[in-house]
Amino acid sequence: MFKEIIPLLSCPCCKKEFTCFPSEMENEEITEGYIECAEGHRYPIHKGVLNMGSAEQEDSNAWSDYYQEMSYEELDRALEERKTENQRNIQRKFLTDTAAETAKLKKGFLLDIASGRGLLLSKLIETSGSDVHIISADLSFTVLMYDRLKFADKARNLKVSYIACDATNLPFKPDSLDMACSFSGFLNMGSLFESGIAESARVLKKGASLIHATAYMNPETPGFQEVEKILETMNQKAFVRNLVQEDVLALHRRYFADASDKFSYEGIAEGEEADLVPYHGDWFANAVITAVK
Ligand SMILES: C[S@@+](CC[C@H](N)C(=O)[O-])C[C@H]1O[C@@H](n2cnc3c(N)ncnc32)[C@H](O)[C@@H]1O
Ligand SMILES: [Zn+2]
Repeated sequence: MFKEIIPLLSCPCCKKEFTCFPSEMENEEITEGYIECAEGHRYPIHKGVLNMGSAEQEDSNAWSDYYQEMSYEELDRALEERKTENQRNIQRKFLTDTAAETAKLKKGFLLDIASGRGLLLSKLIETSGSDVHIISADLSFTVLMYDRLKFADKARNLKVSYIACDATNLPFKPDSLDMACSFSGFLNMGSLFESGIAESARVLKKGASLIHATAYMNPETPGFQEVEKILETMNQKAFVRNLVQEDVLALHRRYFADASDKFSYEGIAEGEEADLVPYHGDWFANAVITAVK
């Protein structure tokens, strides 16, 4: 992480400010050390990643477990190889369309929420100018540690700060960031979809945007009803509405002054067995939502 983000941080426990105690640096990046708030809450910086102590998801995205079975590169390759050429093209366009919106930020702090393996982060690094400081956040310290190594070369002219933290309790002061984005991050948060969006609104400056790339389904189709049944078995039936365009836009408007969307793709899905959405044979859309605070 880089020292420029320290004034933006506030302690998730007591909301006080932090002081940083670096013990190792690589050029200007703090790679080892810790931050401590006025109440003595201390969080380590290790391998370049600030670790706010968040635990990984258990049922999916348990990156530390996956990396015991195969290396970061092997898992990356395996996940990409599972897709058909058509799915890869749709995803490539979705990432490009999302980054076309984030590239509108010319200066300031850009937060990538739930970066995961960094599909969007990679694009942000390619498309951001050197006056943009990217902050990559995910529950998983492990995935960020690998992302940082993977992108080190590509990001050498940029500042990218990595923070392992919970997107529903971000360690930032209110009104402190210039843009936030997430590529399928909130849907992955399940029941925390709304809290994630509300929290991103809290940390953005007035007039700043959240660029949210997400999928829609049609509530009239059999696939949607199947997804609803599956969610019901997990006691998450209500969250099927996080796939419905009008509900999702209304939810953003609860926390932002305005929200609108653009479709990157719409069509009939060739779903993957491992993913609930898009549902094989059913209509879906990939949407880029812009919500302005
Ligand atoms: C599959 S990734 C999303 C794709 C990713 N944005 C990309 O561009 O490659 C989903 C990520 O959400 C993260 N996640 C889930 N719940 C979270 C939360 N409450 N706070 C932060 N990250 C969370 C998971 O750890 C996982 O890495
Ligand atoms: Zn504190």
